[in-house]
Amino acid sequence: MKFFLDTANLDEIRKGASWGIVDGVTTNPSLIAREGRPLKEQVAAICDIVDGPISAEVLSTETAAMIAEGRELAKIHKNIVVKLPLIKDGIAACAALSKEGIRVNVTLCFSPAQALIAAKAGAYFISPFVGRLDDIGHNGMDLIRQIVAIYENYDFSTQVLAASLRGPTHVIESALAGAQIGTMPLKVMEQLFNHPLTDKGLDQFLKDYGKAFGTQPAAR
Ligand code: E4P
Repeated sequence: MKFFLDTANLDEIRKGASWGIVDGVTTNPSLIAREGRPLKEQVAAICDIVDGPISAEVLSTETAAMIAEGRELAKIHKNIVVKLPLIKDGIAACAALSKEGIRVNVTLCFSPAQALIAAKAGAYFISPFVGRLDDIGHNGMDLIRQIVAIYENYDFSTQVLAASLRGPTHVIESALAGAQIGTMPLKVMEQLFNHPLTDKGLDQFLKDYGKAFGTQPAAR
């Protein structure tokens, strides 16, 4: 499973990248807005940190404008994946950009029917939002399972990018369901490391060695 960071914050991206487990980055207009720098400049800076797919979302909502904006975003860097919302105009733009060889991440997916449409339009990634479905009392993980099954039935090459992941359980369940990618905030990625028995075991190893040879456990 590939791990993407779901943030536009450069410090967070540098920190995650330093762990050696970040395969790409997803952004959206809300995440970019938080950083106070225009979209193109911010995603260009992200491309300098992580060598992997970097999703940049268009702000237009009509097909022709989405195509033009998608082409401009794709020029920023070879790793840019153009992100389009799952509306009719977005799907038409996805079909056009995909035919040109521009990779598209279709976002704001909340149903298997929508995911089927995105795959038919040649999407490179589909982004089903798990947490936001949970927020309204649905089971977001069911959607991941359904999409993986449907794509397998028809050998679609569209990769399932499980999004809106709010904790380690979402990540693990997405992995079990067969999602190719999980995108998550830095906080969630950090939580994946944690286990109390790891910390306890390491403390004990260092204490035992120290007692035998008189060395001080390294400060952590
Ligand atoms: C995905 O690309 C989205 O940016 C993101 O996962 C949305 O997550 P949220 O529901 O926590 O805002």
